[in-house]
Amino acid sequence: MSSFPTGVSVVTTLDTDGRPRGMTCSSLSSVSLDPPVLSVCLTVTSRTLSALRAHGFFGVNLLGVRASGVARLFADSSLSHFEHVPWQPVGSGEVPRLGGDTVAFAACRVAETKAVGDHVVVFGEVVGTDSTDGTPLLYGRRQFTAWPEPAPKPT
Ligand SMILES: Cc1cc2nc3c(=O)[nH]c(=O)nc-3n(C[C@H](O)[C@H](O)[C@H](O)COP(=O)(O)O)c2cc1C
Repeated sequence: MSSFPTGVSVVTTLDTDGRPRGMTCSSLSSVSLDPPVLSVCLTVTSRTLSALRAHGFFGVNLLGVRASGVARLFADSSLSHFEHVPWQPVGSGEVPRLGGDTVAFAACRVAETKAVGDHVVVFGEVVGTDSTDGTPLLYGRRQFTAWPEPAPKPT
C-alpha cells in the first residue's frame, strides 16, 4: 500500500474529560455523496478511536503541503499534540479544527463502526465542511511529498 499515494489528514475528537485527541490518518476515503459519508480506518489500539467512539463526533483536518511537521507530531503518541498547534472547537460535536496549513475540514457524526482485523472502519456522516484552494500534502513510499507535476501523456 506504500505505493498507493494519499493525502494526509489529522482525525480529531474529544475524550470523556473534554480534552482534545487526534492522530495522523491516511486511510481516509469518500464513501457516499447522498448522504455525505466518509470513512477512516483506525488501529484498535488508537486512543483517538476510543475517544471518538465515546464522543460520537470527529473532525477530519486535511493537511496542506507545509504541514508535514503536524503530520509527524500527530503520528507520535508519546508527544502532547494540541499545545503545539492552533485549534478551535467547531460544530455541534465541538470537535477540534486545526489552524495552520489545513486545506479542508469535515465535521462528522459517527454513523457506524466495523471491526476488521486489527483496525476499525469508522463511517462518519459529514455534518459540516470548509475548504480552501491551498495545496494538499501527500504521502507515499513512506515519505511526505508535494503536489506533483501532471502525468506525462500516455504513449
Ligand atoms: C502518514 C501517516 C498516516 C497514518 N495513517 C494511519 C491510519 O490511516 N490509521 C491508523 O490507525 N494509523 C495511522 N497512522 C499512525 C497513527 O497516526 C499513530 O499510530 C498515532 O500515534 C495514533 O495515535 P493515538 O493512539 O493517540 O490515537 C499514520 C501515520 C502516518 C505518519
